Amino acid sequence: MKITVVGTGYVGLVTGACLAEMGNQVVCLDSNPGHIAALQNGLLPIHEPGLLDLVLRNTRGGRLTFTDDVNRAVAHGSVQFIAVGTPADEDGSADLQHVLAAAQAIAERMQEPRLIVNKSTVPVGTADRVREVIARVLLARGLPELAFSVTSNPEFLKEGSAVQDFMRPDRVIVGADNEQAAQALRMLYAPFMRNRDRFILMDIRSAEFTKYASNAMLATRISFMNELALLAEKLGADIEQVRTGMGTDPRIGTHFLYAGTGYGGSCFPKDVKALVHAAQEAGQALHILHAVQAVNERQKQVLIDKIVARFGPDLCDRRFALWGLAFKPGTDDMREAPSLVIIEHLLARGAEVAAYDPVALAQARRVLGERPGLHLVSQATSALEGADALIIVTEWKEFHSPDFAHLAIALRQPIIFDGRNLFEPAAIKALGIEYHAIGRAP
Ligand code: UGA
Repeated sequence: MKITVVGTGYVGLVTGACLAEMGNQVVCLDSNPGHIAALQNGLLPIHEPGLLDLVLRNTRGGRLTFTDDVNRAVAHGSVQFIAVGTPADEDGSADLQHVLAAAQAIAERMQEPRLIVNKSTVPVGTADRVREVIARVLLARGLPELAFSVTSNPEFLKEGSAVQDFMRPDRVIVGADNEQAAQALRMLYAPFMRNRDRFILMDIRSAEFTKYASNAMLATRISFMNELALLAEKLGADIEQVRTGMGTDPRIGTHFLYAGTGYGGSCFPKDVKALVHAAQEAGQALHILHAVQAVNERQKQVLIDKIVARFGPDLCDRRFALWGLAFKPGTDDMREAPSLVIIEHLLARGAEVAAYDPVALAQARRVLGERPGLHLVSQATSALEGADALIIVTEWKEFHSPDFAHLAIALRQPIIFDGRNLFEPAAIKALGIEYHAIGRAP
């Protein structure tokens, strides 16, 4: 099939590359010429395992091209994916300007029937707005009969495993209001489906809602476990053992029950906020999601509370090693990363911070800038030198089995604040290391 993907961010780029991999002819459009030039030269704006190989293989194979030429992009695809950003507006609602601009750009140029597939995360009712924009522009162009369909096809990929998630999806959700559009998407996704039942067709509003409902559910599980972790500490229980016990119940399941330093990233915070806002507009309060947000904000500071309890509120003359800047492993994404909150608090209390991340240092430098007291270092071990304690914020694999003997020598005192519960407390204590984790007795 001939496919156009509007937007070359996480979702757009992965969608374009994976569809090309299955033999489709894909043109990816972005309005940023610098971005397109970089992609044409094989430079990716994001760190995502497997994506570079996929992009290079398919560009060389002539199935994947990048352009900032809107005319060319609209002329190319009988299917036009909209995969542009929907950042949070000041009031928390999803900002639809890029989605609606993409719809307008398509409508202003289309000469033949087009299937518009909305992949951006958008509030319920957005497909109707996209349809209105296109119908209005076609009418103004004197082409009211030109056929088009608007469908919803939310994306569920995770950063760090985006290619794998797209290539082997748990489910593909499609919201469509006509059989022809549904059939076209069924065919497009057939090569990705291990199990045909995983192609789930529904009405458009329900598809739009499913995306927010899924992210809100996952965020809720995390905040629930984070709150239970605080209680576990007070009651002398161990949240890791509790999690294992809970997760074996298939009704609960094992995923997304990990207590930590709070959820971050470009999706959960934004999508929970947008759903809360949409509910307010609809005259309904989402009590649970208000609590989910409040617990998450609090949780980002939980390591600071532990550090202050241990060292006192004044951290002048203290130095901390911090491992893990990205909001989660496998990505260089710093959006809403808990590390940012933790670093702010440490610096504000006068501490020095030596921070390390396997891939996010450049992004961190961009986001944090030059800050007195903050040192971004290129080796995990050099962050430790002369530090009063090690703080682990992101569970990168290389942090799971550090050289504890070296760690104990390099730190001024062998103390770890572990925001990801990477180690067994008894085993760490046996090494003579003081260990503070989340939801586990100190
Ligand atoms: C999330 C969803 O998992 C995807 O299904 C969805 O497509 C995506 O948002 C999106 O809407 O685009 P992502 O933000 O890449 O994906 O990352 P997750 O793996 O979901 O992690 C989100 C945050 O939750 C991270 O900060 C992570 O550390 C935290 N988390 C996750 C926990 O604190 N505990 C857990 O048990 C799981």
